[in-house]
Amino acid sequence: MVPELEKATVRIRQPERVRGIIRTLREQGGAKLQVISDFDMTLSRFGCNGRRCPTSHNILDTSRVVSEDGRKKLKDLLHYYYPIEIDPNRTLEEKCPLMVEWWTRAHELLVQQKIRKDDIAQIVRESEVMLRDGFKEFFDQLHKNSVPLFIFSAGVGDVLEEIIRQASVFYSNVNVVSNYMDFDDDGVLTHFKAPLIHTYNKNNSVLQGTDYFQQLSTRTNIILLGDSMGDLTMADGIPSVENILKIGFLNDKVEERRGKYLEAYDIVLESDETLDVVNGILRYILTET
Ligand code: TMP
Ligand code: MG
Repeated sequence: MVPELEKATVRIRQPERVRGIIRTLREQGGAKLQVISDFDMTLSRFGCNGRRCPTSHNILDTSRVVSEDGRKKLKDLLHYYYPIEIDPNRTLEEKCPLMVEWWTRAHELLVQQKIRKDDIAQIVRESEVMLRDGFKEFFDQLHKNSVPLFIFSAGVGDVLEEIIRQASVFYSNVNVVSNYMDFDDDGVLTHFKAPLIHTYNKNNSVLQGTDYFQQLSTRTNIILLGDSMGDLTMADGIPSVENILKIGFLNDKVEERRGKYLEAYDIVLESDETLDVVNGILRYILTET
């Protein structure tokens, strides 16, 4: 069916159930499908040759437009809050206020740096960000088959849009909801637009006012891609979900978090820097029989 599912990185708790969902998605075809994906560490790579790749926030944090002092403070925040973000032994209720604190403090520091809108393209070009191997086939398949792709990100919208623009895959079927910057008349960053999106409020609460999912009400089959437990609620605003396949990238602390990921995601991809499995599934679903 999908040979990529035999890859050593793939773990599935209920293989029969997963095969059933994939078969149904194929039977019902591309017209009923939509894809909802996280961006940082899901469409972008977690690491390369033993080095970590940056998130959309990290791209700004480590760029030349941020002062030495600002860089240090942003790094300190990351070292304090990131272990909390991924701690499998803390509840969502515990994590949520701490994530609001992290994002708020990071955004305040970025605003202090007087970042210019015109610098963003160059900052992205000079960064070490990488999309996962196979990204081109992923975006191309969805575009060619007119399958909408909704990127739901707690990262920085302006930065992630620039990444996919530079990769030449920002097609018309791609929609992004994320944290966007606001600039003054001189093009200098003044604040981040509301609502603040962090790892654990990626749900309907921040989609009020957008009717994206309502417009796509006939697309009741969903493929959801994420790397965090917070990504699991990204499809909550969809009025009527018939079939959903949740694919999770388990990038970090693999042994420690495996159990929880296997319970929550239908397919878990362990330390897999590629979109091979996703592309294999899409190829199977979207190829005419
Ligand atoms: P997401 O992948 O769920 O959209 O979340 C964005 C990631 O960005 C999340 O894993 C935490 C990370 N992050 C940073 O790297 N630096 C920051 O300053 C902030 C606020 C978040
Ligand atoms: Mg992520």
